[in-house]
Amino acid sequence: MPNYTINFAPPFNIVRLSHVEWVVTDLGYSKAYYVDLVGYHLEEETSDTLYLRGMEELNHHSLILKKGDVPKVNRIGFKVFSADDLEKAYRYFEGLGQPVVWVEKHAQGKTFHTTDPFGVPLEFYYQMERVSDILQKYHLYHGARIQRIDHANLFHNDVNAATEFYVSQLGFRVTEATVIEQADPDTPYVATWLHRKGGVHDIAFTNGTGPRLHHLGVWMPSVQDIIHLCDSMAAAGLRECLERGPGRHGISNAFFLYMRDQDGHRLEPYVSDYQTMDPDHPARIWDLDDPMRQTLWGQAAPRSWFELGSVFKGLEPQPSKLDATPIIAPE
Ligand SMILES: [Fe+2]
Repeated sequence: MPNYTINFAPPFNIVRLSHVEWVVTDLGYSKAYYVDLVGYHLEEETSDTLYLRGMEELNHHSLILKKGDVPKVNRIGFKVFSADDLEKAYRYFEGLGQPVVWVEKHAQGKTFHTTDPFGVPLEFYYQMERVSDILQKYHLYHGARIQRIDHANLFHNDVNAATEFYVSQLGFRVTEATVIEQADPDTPYVATWLHRKGGVHDIAFTNGTGPRLHHLGVWMPSVQDIIHLCDSMAAAGLRECLERGPGRHGISNAFFLYMRDQDGHRLEPYVSDYQTMDPDHPARIWDLDDPMRQTLWGQAAPRSWFELGSVFKGLEPQPSKLDATPIIAPE
């Protein structure tokens, strides 16, 4: 099993995953779906863009929905610690030979765009417009009451190379991993969960055709909110959007639901993971064929969950280098 050296003094300091920008084909549908049912707070709306945040978030947005003809993921945004870190990040990616460009981004301070070595479009900034504190404005809560962004999970055609880059270069730490067989000392990673912020993950990589975005993970106030979301989606005639769950992951201990909108973007509302900020926090390792890995209660995930994802802007997904077959639920 790989054991990449963690870079505890990375070239710049990433605080956490900050936001994701999706292209959607029908803003009216997306507003009804993500604001009315899912329960995001609509912070700002323009003719072609919705800026959404969770009820505890003080940054202007954690999910941007932009009108377009073809669904895709424009980019993943990370917050860095300081202006100095932002300059260092720019020079780091420039030094790697990746494209780097300073951009004007609504409600954000100085921001640049680049790609990681695998072509995933990334955005870095350190200051976003601070908005009103609505954590205890309970009369504004609605839908399933999204609290905050948590993680982005990516299909990756080379999980091991991606994990090595984010760990040994950018200072991410692996909290959980799936391997083909722990008994084999040379077994490769099939999936990894990596963090900066002290939770189970900010980003995760899952073996498959990629890179593509598998899902955006968002934190909910309670299990009851996830049950309510299932009831609401069914009552609103959107039962087919409920793809998997609710259930309890073995990995991460999350109580989860997976849902896909009409553009194919997948959201994972979830509650409960655990703290991981100790520098010597050990990773939990799972065998691929362990039925409790996917769902602690044993239910397998549907085929769609292993095959469908959102493409990134400007990135042609590549077949995986690793032939690893997970447990798939019978159809
Ligand atoms: Fe997740």
